[in-house]
Amino acid sequence: MSKIVVTGGAGFIGSHTAVSLVAAGFEPIIVDNFSNSEKNILNGLEQILGRRLTCYEADCNDADAMETIFASERPIGIIHFAASKAVGESVQKPLLYYRNNLNSLMVMLELMPKYQVHNLVFSSSCTVYGQPERLPVTEATPRLPASSPYGNTKAMCEDIIRDCVAAVMPVKAISLRYFNPIGAHPSALIGELPRGVPANLVPYLLQVAAGQRESLTIHGNDYNTPDGTAIRDYIHVMDLADAHVSALQLLNQKNTDSFYDIFNIGTGRGASVLELINTFEEINGIKLPYTLGPRRPGDIEQIYADVSKATEGLRWTAKRSLADALQDAWRWQQTLS
Ligand code: NAD
Ligand code: WQD
Repeated sequence: MSKIVVTGGAGFIGSHTAVSLVAAGFEPIIVDNFSNSEKNILNGLEQILGRRLTCYEADCNDADAMETIFASERPIGIIHFAASKAVGESVQKPLLYYRNNLNSLMVMLELMPKYQVHNLVFSSSCTVYGQPERLPVTEATPRLPASSPYGNTKAMCEDIIRDCVAAVMPVKAISLRYFNPIGAHPSALIGELPRGVPANLVPYLLQVAAGQRESLTIHGNDYNTPDGTAIRDYIHVMDLADAHVSALQLLNQKNTDSFYDIFNIGTGRGASVLELINTFEEINGIKLPYTLGPRRPGDIEQIYADVSKATEGLRWTAKRSLADALQDAWRWQQTLS
């Protein structure tokens, strides 16, 4: 079976992608240092799949360790999820972010030709667009200087990949610009495991719903949007997982040595903070205590994706609704409380 090294495969998006890879006939080889994940996610994966996946506890910056894995597994592709992802922390510890996110990618790119691994899918982010002038954003929308070192690492990684492909390294690569991933596998056996006080909306909301936190603060209701709260493109993590399979399949089909492209991965639909709260309340029959607070520094007003390029180029579209995602997320949260 075609093996795919999934760095960061014990994390939120990586673990769900492992499920989609198996469903599509690929064999995920997880590599994770568990810096932001728990080993028991592997048990959840085992229950979903009915067998244990291969997993290496290793740091992607450790070129020797990665080389040993490549030499013994002989993968045909890599999905590189491993990265540090907390926007606020990246402002406090920029070097940690530049080192981990840039170096781990470069380790992959250096090993790929040596082990004839031709296919790379990279986790980028809609954060590279900042607050765009026009909505929805297409892949041609200019990138803006990121408001955080984390965001900078995503733009820089995209450029590193582009330059390697331009240098005619035998690399075929796709960067997927994720919008806001939420939700969990419908089995509730895997899901997101935030550490500390969650900064993101849905993880925080779930802890409020579970009674672990008193109330949700809406960061700003004076934006220029229909209800005054900020708008994002929330995508179910299983839809996002499937997009990785589509990207790998496209790379596999390309009969060229070098190839690089970028795709937005969202639903194409924006939802406001208030709409998300209302949808959560309706689908799960729970009333959420919330208060209105000031805007969060660094936040943008609104963003959502134009997904026509992914629809045509990847033959992929998001199938699950916001309500599906919030129902699955709540089912997962209840297993944690
Ligand atoms: P996550 O933290 O849940 O998963 C990342 C995994 O990588 C974790 O299991 C962590 O332990 C591991 N890891 C980190 N550094 C490593 C290293 N040097 N070696 C080995 N393992 C390492 O995050 P996620 O939400 O699943 O995000 C996955 C990717 O998608 C990241 O690159 C992230 O920047 C990107 N992304 C995430 C979002 C989001 O909102 N979740 C949005 C856009 C892009
Ligand atoms: C969504 C909306 C908040 C918490 C972040 C990263 C981005 C990407 C996705 C990785 C905003 C509001 C939030 C709360 C609130 N990650 N909110 N109360 O900021 O769009 O993006 O995650 O690449 O890079 O910046 O997501 O979930 O933090 O916020 O009102 O307690 O919810 O102000 O409008 P964001 P988020």
